[in-house]
Amino acid sequence: MARGRIQTLLATWRSLLDGGASYREAERRAELAQLRFRDGRAIPRHIAVIMDGNGRWATQRHLPRSMGHHAGVEALRRVVQLCDDQHVPMLSVYAFSTENWGRPQEEVDALMRLMWETIRTDVERLHRNGVRLRHIGRLADLAPDIQEAIRHMMELTQHNTKLHLNVCFNYGGRAEIVDAVREMMAAGMPAEEVTEEAIGRHLYTRDLPDPDLVIRTGGEMRLSNYLIWQAAYAEYYSTPTLWPDFDDADLLAALDAFAGRKRRFGKLDSQVAEVPPASAPPSIVSSLPQAAVKGAR
Ligand code: FPP
Repeated sequence: MARGRIQTLLATWRSLLDGGASYREAERRAELAQLRFRDGRAIPRHIAVIMDGNGRWATQRHLPRSMGHHAGVEALRRVVQLCDDQHVPMLSVYAFSTENWGRPQEEVDALMRLMWETIRTDVERLHRNGVRLRHIGRLADLAPDIQEAIRHMMELTQHNTKLHLNVCFNYGGRAEIVDAVREMMAAGMPAEEVTEEAIGRHLYTRDLPDPDLVIRTGGEMRLSNYLIWQAAYAEYYSTPTLWPDFDDADLLAALDAFAGRKRRFGKLDSQVAEVPPASAPPSIVSSLPQAAVKGAR
């Protein structure tokens, strides 16, 4: 205990002497320590998924595209369960982007209906299973009944501590940054106070850890405006599997790929040593030191 305090004092002193470099280094180490390990393998603390390929899946079966989205919800239910089984604490899914408004009206309407229906049919079960649901995106542009359903799902599950599921709906990374800048300017923030940390505090994801792993299904190799700020240091994994077909084997393959990556956070191999902790707590999202995690790079 006393040794810990002395080390903290020394770190603070060093930080004063070197202009904060050692403090940032300590934060980076704190982030590495927060990487979760199971059977000696790193498990992402936060997986973000771009659920692509619903349309192609439907077309291959001569079905309307909306049927592909329905099958996509089935896949999402499976993956929520799988992430929980694999002790992944947080999952974010890209369900409707700000660019998706440009799709044919029929498809936009189908996706809006699907969101509303899925909340109605799934929220009670997810709540019973301890899942915490959050919406990420521009809520105000959505129809009032969808806004109400989203508020309900967030309020109902706000104290749950098992898997944290973030539904990115009417979400766009650039729109999010624009909203953050507007918020800071409206608050009269002086230019010298605009830092990476300050921007992070004004993003929709302000209380959440950055994703460690971004999975994209459907074979494309781009971020499509998804969590572009937060995913700056995420590992990226693309699979040709169409989202409705994504199953256990696909998730395990993505987790395997993640475990095999060496995360350097812009440093050299020799500067980064990821050492598995002796034991990992069963659920760490609620106990994450958010300030330290968000500040580390
Ligand atoms: C991209 O596939 C997928 C979407 C735009 C919607 C994703 C939605 C789901 C998976 C269902 C879950 C949604 C809710 C509302 C809970 P695409 O249509 O672009 O497929 P394509 O590239 O094959 O055309």
